[in-house]
Amino acid sequence: MKIVTIGSFKGGTGKTTLCAVLATALTQRGLKTRVIELETSTKPLARFEAAREFADLNSPNVADLHVSGGHPDVQDWQMGFRNQAEEAARKGYDVLLIDTVSVWKPEVIAAHLVADLVITTVTESPVDLYQIMPTNGPSMQATRPYSQLIDLVRRHAQKLNKTDFGWFMCLNRKSHLITRVGESVREQLLDFCEESNIDLLEGLVDRVGYRIMMETGVTPVDDIAGEPIQRSFLAARTESRRLAAQVIRQLNLQPGQRANYAIA
Ligand SMILES: Nc1ncnc2c1ncn2[C@@H]1O[C@H](COP(=O)(O)OP(=O)(O)OP(=O)(O)O)[C@@H](O)[C@H]1O
Ligand SMILES: [Mg+2]
Repeated sequence: MKIVTIGSFKGGTGKTTLCAVLATALTQRGLKTRVIELETSTKPLARFEAAREFADLNSPNVADLHVSGGHPDVQDWQMGFRNQAEEAARKGYDVLLIDTVSVWKPEVIAAHLVADLVITTVTESPVDLYQIMPTNGPSMQATRPYSQLIDLVRRHAQKLNKTDFGWFMCLNRKSHLITRVGESVREQLLDFCEESNIDLLEGLVDRVGYRIMMETGVTPVDDIAGEPIQRSFLAARTESRRLAAQVIRQLNLQPGQRANYAIA
């Protein structure tokens, strides 16, 4: 059982969309996938799952996470995630995906600490950059940049001797236009990722195919019998599958057959 956490401190970078696409692509590859969403008020992924059930599509499973106690702290949340992973492993699941929210909260920190792979989403905008790294600029400095969380998680992984721990930064919602500001953000991110030992990957480009899928439940990787694939899905399908393949390789998962991993 492997835990993949999707995070960023910037809202709207496509975490939930990427989570839904990835969960579907992994399920298609024969990897039994469960999702936990930390957005408990609107529950977009539970609604996505319900839409898929209605459309009779093979679906990843979305589970609620319950942590006992009044005000759970980071350790309680870690325990909650581990319990959930153990229960999922007993039920034959291969992957647990955690979709987080853009806030420095105990559950978000814990979700990063328990991960075997973290995927951070970022768009080609300077505002996203300031949310991630400490800058010298006076006005846009985030009080708690994401780099603080990266340091925390790295120290924790070292303490636990987690040598196979992986981190992807996904350039997401990328526009088709090449702009000077976009290129500049990309270069700065590349430097930051090199220093932090993070792999900078191409994420999901800004496409209509992703915009409609949370509502319909139909993702770019789905084939519906008797229906031609929509044009807006074609390129999206290729990049979604490529991303799923990168996750599978990083986690050393065996698609198509039931993996049997021990819980660390
Ligand atoms: N690759 C994409 N192409 C087009 N639209 C996208 C893409 N990714 C996300 N969107 C759209 O952008 C909006 C925000 O996406 P999403 O909810 O996935 O982001 P998020 O990071 O989970 O946001 P939050 O921080 O609020 O949880 C949604 O309307 C979604 O449909
Ligand atoms: Mg979200």
